[in-house]
Amino acid sequence: MNDASSGISSMMKELRVFPPPPEFARQAHIRGMDQYKALHARSLKDPEGFWGEAAAELHWFRKWDRVLDWKLPDSKWFAGGKTNLAYNCLDLQIQRGRGDHTAILWEGEPGEVRRLTYRDVHREVCRFANGLRQLGVRQGDKVTLYMPMVPELAIAMLACARIGAPHSVIFGGFSAQAIVDRVIDAESHYMVTADGGYRRGSVVPLKANVDEACAKTNLVKKVVVLKRVGQDVPMKSGRDVWWHDVVESASADCPAEPLDAEHMLYLLYTSGSTGKPKGIHHTTGGYMVYTYLSAKYIFDLKPDDVYWCTADIGWVTGHSYVVYGILCNGVTCLMYEGAPNHPAWDRFWDIIQRHKVTKFYTAPTALRAFMRQGDEHPNKHNLSSLKLLGTVGEPINPEAWMWYHRVIGKERCPIVDTWWQTETGGALISPLPGATTTKPGSATMPFFGIDADIVDKNGTSQAANVGGFLVIRKPWPGMLRGIYGDRERFERQYWSEVPGVYFAGDSARRDEDGCFWIMGRIDDVIKVAGHRLGTAEVESALVSHPKVAEAAVVGIPHDLKGQAIAAFVTLRVGAAPSDAMKKELTEHVGRTMGALAKPEQIRFTDALPKTRSGKIMRRLLVEIATKGEVKGDTTTLEDFSILSKLATKDEE
Ligand code: PRX
Repeated sequence: MNDASSGISSMMKELRVFPPPPEFARQAHIRGMDQYKALHARSLKDPEGFWGEAAAELHWFRKWDRVLDWKLPDSKWFAGGKTNLAYNCLDLQIQRGRGDHTAILWEGEPGEVRRLTYRDVHREVCRFANGLRQLGVRQGDKVTLYMPMVPELAIAMLACARIGAPHSVIFGGFSAQAIVDRVIDAESHYMVTADGGYRRGSVVPLKANVDEACAKTNLVKKVVVLKRVGQDVPMKSGRDVWWHDVVESASADCPAEPLDAEHMLYLLYTSGSTGKPKGIHHTTGGYMVYTYLSAKYIFDLKPDDVYWCTADIGWVTGHSYVVYGILCNGVTCLMYEGAPNHPAWDRFWDIIQRHKVTKFYTAPTALRAFMRQGDEHPNKHNLSSLKLLGTVGEPINPEAWMWYHRVIGKERCPIVDTWWQTETGGALISPLPGATTTKPGSATMPFFGIDADIVDKNGTSQAANVGGFLVIRKPWPGMLRGIYGDRERFERQYWSEVPGVYFAGDSARRDEDGCFWIMGRIDDVIKVAGHRLGTAEVESALVSHPKVAEAAVVGIPHDLKGQAIAAFVTLRVGAAPSDAMKKELTEHVGRTMGALAKPEQIRFTDALPKTRSGKIMRRLLVEIATKGEVKGDTTTLEDFSILSKLATKDEE
């Protein structure tokens, strides 16, 4: 390999192919490769014509002047146009005759079911939007949402969108410190939470976490609390108000605010390779058009679909493909509050049978867990309502893909393996189920308007099957507009590694048929159960323990979670390594960051392997954590004696 090469080699060879089932293709929006290819070529040649037509399928208070202004790395889509995403998700659907159709079909973990029609959601959104206004929320104010997976979370998001108050949703599994960091970064004065939420039979103490967070920052002026579980929570007078009190007197008349297409719709924090989470900034018009069109074609949405995406709304998948992209297609979206294995491992399959789910979208980590529990759980249920299956979040192993195809899809349902990121707003590489021949483990081909490529460090396209960096050469409407408050990081992270293109941070190859195979992240991000965690964040959590001097964490392969965290910890003088200490540190990380970040392994060490410039050599740590010794290149290592110490230490 020459100097410019990415140094990424591909080891995988998968030869099975699955053409779209003919009966599916016959009824699909996009039927066959010829149609895909013609439309894709047109979308790249004439992006303004293509996206202008897509946007015209939705409602605008004022039509845009120009479809695209592009000055690398800044794009403006539909400049001059005024629209409202909540209006498109609700009012437009009601005008189209969908008012009495179920918008949200919700199932709580304990088993209760709620059906809210488009009209119901519209009414509740209007009331909550008026309630937020009464509390002082104005256009542009950022509202933090820290809630369980209940319809009110979607209602709160849509209420924010209706009045132009950007939301910042924090995953309910995160801890108080994560709330503090995000509230401060987003300068958010308003928060919406619940008295708790159900997860695996127990109550997640959301309000208690909010109280702990509010003790560490005085930014938060108002906290709205939804009564979900009915447990007693302290209400701070002047700050905390009950959701039911806020909406009780609020009018159900709340005209949607005409917003500039580039008005901020939301911030969503995601991990990067340095400690601080990044507030990914998405805007209104372009994001709306991209999520609308990608959902319509990738999930092949039809009026009678009961679509279920199992992602928590705290992640981007939930933003784009539980709420916005789905509701503005006018279909029924199923939302489930709890864990996949509560009360038993067949919960998902039971839900699919009872609610006659037609389109099902989940994560490889969940599929691996199901596979391990055995086929008897899905086999107990009638899954014949299913028409399409999807995955997202990490590369899917071909075995898991085949299991999904066979045991869940009964070899009838096309699988859409959708590659995208928090930053991209919507899926960029994915099969179109009526057109694309799928291959287990490949996200296949770029969506309309997406000019994806595999390049080396100089930006030179790589030959078929040569690994390289995945980049996007042209802007697309759903792309991030920045990292909140950090222009330098935005430019460095996405626009500097390879000049002139969007750098996704993933390695990939493209095969001789033009299918993309994602190989993984190239930075220090670990994906635990499909969720992106920055190594530095977990390390900071460990080091925040008074007995820890230094820590390094790496991702190691894990059968179920994809990756798990292995931690190398140097204790302060006077503290002694022990099993009890391991347990204490694991719990400490759980408390500071959330259970997801708890290390699977902890090893104590007197020192960490570093380069001369002081950078921790994680590559060596990975070798030790996985193989128990180091065989790779160690020429840049500063102190060789460390390796033997590390290898002999631990894992009692
Ligand atoms: O590495 C890729 C992986 O997840 C990363 C983005 O993570 P996040 O921002 O949390 O968004 C996840 C949900 C959209 C990507 O850089 N990834 C996501 N989907 C796939 C994937 N890797 C392979 N195949 C996928 N389908």
